[in-house]
Amino acid sequence: MKVGVVGCGMVGSAAAYALVMRGAASEVVLVDLNHRMAEAQAQDIRHATPFAYPVKVRAGGYDDLENAAAVILAAGANQKPGESRMELLGRNADVFAQIIPRVLGAAPGTILLVATNPVDVMTQVATRLSGLAPGRVIGSGTVLDTARFRGLLAWHLGLSSKSVHGYVLGEHGDSEVLCWSSSIAGSVRVEDLAEQMGRPLDDAAKAHIDEQVRRAAYHIIEGKGATWYGIGGGLMRICQAIANDEHAVLTLSVVNDSIEGIPHVAASLPRIIGRGGILGTIMPDLADAEHAALKRSAQVLKQAAEEIGY
Ligand code: 2OP
Repeated sequence: MKVGVVGCGMVGSAAAYALVMRGAASEVVLVDLNHRMAEAQAQDIRHATPFAYPVKVRAGGYDDLENAAAVILAAGANQKPGESRMELLGRNADVFAQIIPRVLGAAPGTILLVATNPVDVMTQVATRLSGLAPGRVIGSGTVLDTARFRGLLAWHLGLSSKSVHGYVLGEHGDSEVLCWSSSIAGSVRVEDLAEQMGRPLDDAAKAHIDEQVRRAAYHIIEGKGATWYGIGGGLMRICQAIANDEHAVLTLSVVNDSIEGIPHVAASLPRIIGRGGILGTIMPDLADAEHAALKRSAQVLKQAAEEIGY
């Protein structure tokens, strides 16, 4: 599968690197306004292929995206320390208005995979600008927050994160919803299992995990200026699910007719993903407070999209 990456800063290049290290694509084309940087990233990543998979990695222009099965959109400004994802919205919507027609001019049949923040509203913007069916414009959404949540729960329980199942839904951002009520490991609700294991998930432990998931990007940005490895891994995982037509369930952002009664809004829910993009949405089993929090999150996103006319 050929994958394009538009915007080859830290996020785009980390995604490309992850695609190579896992062999999740056969060809990766890097496109950036700064072609010299795209060339340099392509060359650097190519040097890792003998240690990984024989993926063809090259820099190119928009025309080189022809026949790409998926194009990762990672272009735009990223957060400064203390800045929220939402504060990037106006600037990044303008960037998408420039690049989306050029991507689709070269690859009209592609799936757009949106990584630029604020990713949910940018997914809504990309859906409108592209005119593609909503299932073919996919935001990375809370795929990363779900990974952070599973990782922290696993750490608390002393288990492999692959054996812990729990979702973060709604906005990839401040209003996101950690779904404690449906999180399980070994078929047991995590709170009950934690009790069984003598490592209770009391209010303080849950508040700590919530903070570490919700504020993860802020902490990392304070330390190193941006985040890229986690999201690079998440973008690779999404491409892998498309390439292998996996029908995997991942928490991804797509424009929905309605989420908790809020019409036409993009936010993360568990989505079935395969070759055709999003093949279905699973309506999660939530506690009343989680339904209410998801509704608030959808409202935040709807309002942000409306404020910029989307
Ligand atoms: C992250 O959560 C900043 O959205 C990016 O790592």
